[in-house]
Amino acid sequence: MCGIIGYAGKTEAVNVLLDGLERLEYRGYDSAGVAVVSPEGKLQVKKSKGRLAVLRDLLQESDSLVGSIGIGHTRWATHGEPNDKNAHPHVGQDGKIAVVHNGIIENYLEIKNYLIRKGVTFQSDTDTEVIVQLMEYYYKKYSNLMDAVYAVLNRIKGAYAMGILCSDYPEQMLAARKDAPLLIGYGEKENFIASDVTALLSHTRTVTYMEDDEVALITADSVQIYDSDRSPVEKEKHIIAWDVSAAEKGGYAHFMLKEIMEQPEAVRKTVSPRITDGKIVFEELKEAVELLQNITRIYIVACGSAYHVGMVGKYTLEKLLHIPVEACLASEFRYSEPILGESALVIVISQSGETLDSMAALREAKKKGSKVLSIVNVMGSSIARESDYVLYTWAGPEIAVATTKAYTTQMVLLIMLGVYFAKQLSRISEEEYDKIMVGLDSLPEKIKDVLKNIDNYQKTASRYFNHSSVFYIGRNVDYALGLEGSLKLKEISYIHSESYAAGELKHGTISLIEPGTLVVALATYAPLLEKTLSNVVEVKSRGAEVILMATEETAKTISSQSSELFVIPETHPVLQPVLGVIPLQLFAYYVALNRGCDIDKPRNLAKSVTVE
Ligand code: AGP
Repeated sequence: MCGIIGYAGKTEAVNVLLDGLERLEYRGYDSAGVAVVSPEGKLQVKKSKGRLAVLRDLLQESDSLVGSIGIGHTRWATHGEPNDKNAHPHVGQDGKIAVVHNGIIENYLEIKNYLIRKGVTFQSDTDTEVIVQLMEYYYKKYSNLMDAVYAVLNRIKGAYAMGILCSDYPEQMLAARKDAPLLIGYGEKENFIASDVTALLSHTRTVTYMEDDEVALITADSVQIYDSDRSPVEKEKHIIAWDVSAAEKGGYAHFMLKEIMEQPEAVRKTVSPRITDGKIVFEELKEAVELLQNITRIYIVACGSAYHVGMVGKYTLEKLLHIPVEACLASEFRYSEPILGESALVIVISQSGETLDSMAALREAKKKGSKVLSIVNVMGSSIARESDYVLYTWAGPEIAVATTKAYTTQMVLLIMLGVYFAKQLSRISEEEYDKIMVGLDSLPEKIKDVLKNIDNYQKTASRYFNHSSVFYIGRNVDYALGLEGSLKLKEISYIHSESYAAGELKHGTISLIEPGTLVVALATYAPLLEKTLSNVVEVKSRGAEVILMATEETAKTISSQSSELFVIPETHPVLQPVLGVIPLQLFAYYVALNRGCDIDKPRNLAKSVTVE
């Protein structure tokens, strides 16, 4: 996600901003920029695509930015490709106000169209620019910066943490937050804002955490915070004891755990901007009418965990659309002479958007006349750029090699796409559609409910981390979930593991089951519960130790089969796998933790596999 730093003090702001942005680099970014107001009220902005080094060179080449009040930003693109014009800070068309922003403005298009009708000219493709253009619009109307800021905050919908400068107020920096973190740092005759404490630790350890709907007015000598009614708020100050590396992980021991815990927010950010009046709306597919006209089959092509999302998608989209859906390993797809053409839609899923096997499969599909729709997390990545259509998961940067929040947001997006297509093709009843929409709306909260049982998964892992091999078994989407659970365990704990369609056990694998063999049985898919139950009995009769995952409903039937139970909340069946993967992520995490593995950077693995 984006990084924000702001400074109001006595020294040259630009140096403090660059230092702060460097400490935020770990968050992942694709462009950076700074804005400084001089004592005479001159607003100076420098920004560029690329690493901070590019910004530093840009600053070296031009007149230095003079002034002791400024804001800085590292951008993780969500709306608008990574390039110079989309980098922050964004400046209003009157050149008076500069804004940096972390979050997503969900109603930006509506506001942008309104302002264009009012004669405003936009410079970028970002949702953020709407904030600053609207702020200048209101500033011109009210001639008061605070009035303008509150007018904007009352108008925009979505998540934001923002830093604001105005050339008419060369002593002041403003900050506001809603659903995106923003801290205030207190120094000696200098004060700061930052997305996270990492950027501040070299200057101060005394901080305040802004709450939703608060606005801060900051100068070198004072900090005043106001609530949504503009009433002054007294805030508790905290002294940060963390070292820098702990701070980068937000206090979590590993990025992987941090990213597992970020899943409710990542899913909310991916889903909510695509729901309008209770309906799924894909702005990205508005010109894609032909996408569905004559599709007779769908290939979902990916690698690793993204392929496992495709396996869930196979089961789910076939049910929703009643057309053949095949999940393919990209490395196999590209050499298997697939039957392609305009009647075959190819969906490529990739967190990095740079996986070579997936990219090659994409090019093969296009060469043979298929349209390609990709689901990608990294904005402007190669796969995104070469696809006919791209849907971004707004999960934010994923640092841990073992994917978690990207996997769940890919899955949610793929399911939403299936439901959207089913509605376009009139293959889903209004009643069923509405039930799924209710499920989507409550999904982030239900993910939080699963995460609340973290101690259960940790305790189970502490009992089983010494096993030398683990079997995951399940049927239908539970089988697909088992593939991901098994990969998570292998990747980070180095324990050998296999995932099997439970009905397949009797065709050979069951010979491997012996007293003490650990089997993780997934029983969330209700229609095949009885079959799964018999498979659990099969392995238990041969001495297996069983960890059982079930929903609140299926547990009523099957929980007697094991004392090791992961029970997850009920949701709509098409969404159930989104909840089902989370205990498996945490079980793998805690097994690896018990084994002392390098969880964020497992041996032999890379976050993006750009080789064959
Ligand atoms: C998942 O935990 C692994 N890191 C790996 O399997 C990954 O999913 C695979 O390499 C695909 O990467 P991509 O999503 O960036 O294309």
